[in-house]
Amino acid sequence: MNILILGGGGREHSLAWAAMQNPKCDKLIVAPGNAGIAEIADCADLDIENGAAVTAFCEANAIEFVIIGPEAPLAAGIADRLRDAGLLVFGPDAGAARLEASKAFTKEICDAVGAPTARYARFTDADAARAHVRQTGAPIVVKADGLAAGKGVIVAETEAQALAAIDDMFGGEFGTAGAEVVIEEFMEGEEASFFVLVDGENVLPIGTAQDHKRAGEGDTGPNTGGMGAYSPAPVMTDAVAERALEQIIRPTVAELARRGTPYRGVLYAGLMISDGQPRLVEYNVRFGDPEAQVLMMRLGAQALDLMQAAAAGKLAEARVNWADDHAMTVVMAARGYPGPYEKGSVIGGLDGLPEDGNRICFHAGTGRRDGRFVANGGRVLNLTARGATLAEARDRAYAMVDRIDWPDGFCRRDIGWRALEAKTAYNSDG
Ligand code: AMP
Ligand code: GLY
Repeated sequence: MNILILGGGGREHSLAWAAMQNPKCDKLIVAPGNAGIAEIADCADLDIENGAAVTAFCEANAIEFVIIGPEAPLAAGIADRLRDAGLLVFGPDAGAARLEASKAFTKEICDAVGAPTARYARFTDADAARAHVRQTGAPIVVKADGLAAGKGVIVAETEAQALAAIDDMFGGEFGTAGAEVVIEEFMEGEEASFFVLVDGENVLPIGTAQDHKRAGEGDTGPNTGGMGAYSPAPVMTDAVAERALEQIIRPTVAELARRGTPYRGVLYAGLMISDGQPRLVEYNVRFGDPEAQVLMMRLGAQALDLMQAAAAGKLAEARVNWADDHAMTVVMAARGYPGPYEKGSVIGGLDGLPEDGNRICFHAGTGRRDGRFVANGGRVLNLTARGATLAEARDRAYAMVDRIDWPDGFCRRDIGWRALEAKTAYNSDG
């Protein structure tokens, strides 16, 4: 099978790595890819939000299966265009991708099916939004409706912060994404990410994860795209997962099918769990980054078969072969990230890294210069490892970190701390 993966981060490197483990994969192209991906697949320069260009590329390269990594091409309707052209595609059409592209749409679906989530109100007028905040008080969460590269959510601890966020959003800080604003009740609890494959109708859970969004140790400092992740998430016990499926995910999938926009791809439910009860924080219509890296490490080659089954509407027959293992990924980022950072610093130590079924360094943002790897983004490397326990996975991941020679990079040294410290608080170790 000839496969095209769209995207060029650590998520796409892990998807490419899993696909390459599978003997079904004859040819793999990643667009745009990065210097690490180029070690295992062909990389192509392609405008991945241009449907005509992607479709023509698929025809020219005899592509049979397209896996779409990031949300932007999904929201732009690239999956629709490729399906119209008769291709097998992993990723939802634009109509179903609204679960990520519009927070108000997701709330509407939750209302329609009675899924547990934060109470909310939506506004297209700043004065009405301000009045709502004054009446409700803080803490409160203010969200730009549309895609804002992960920056459109303000968890306001004070009324003043919430009012400022409203001014910013209606003032155009997030462009058209902030033309509508959703204001939500602040939910307490522990967060976890739940990943399920969907083929339009059937739902197949493929794993849980927790990520660390803050740049600093102890989960402090500014928000980032994610500084590390681990799988499974201990807070997601079988009972919590079953509740999330029954009360939130299956009803959502059924409602989208009923509306004539069936969901096909991976659905990533961000959950807030309190006293064993999950509530929906948000949906994403793609794998998380860096959560995909730990999921792919655990699933390996079967990930390709599962994604193909989801794309082909054949999930009812699909099964996941679970190993009783744990995985962790540690993100190395350019100094300064998520603020301004330099590109182009040389990264040493990559060539001698061990690489086997238990350890791999996925590249998130690297390039090549004079034969050497250089940093080419904010998040740059994902040192990813697997083990029989989370502690073993952590030790392997940080042993790789310690072999990287990159003075201009940094990482958090405490990825997984909550699960490692609170291990005895949960009765699930698998
Ligand atoms: P998002 O950018 O949608 O991933 O949201 C960023 C983060 O904001 C989430 O991961 C949560 O930590 C937090 N968040 C969003 N909505 C709520 C809420 N209603 N209550 C508490 N925290 C929230
Ligand atoms: N790591 C969070 C995300 O991919 O949205």
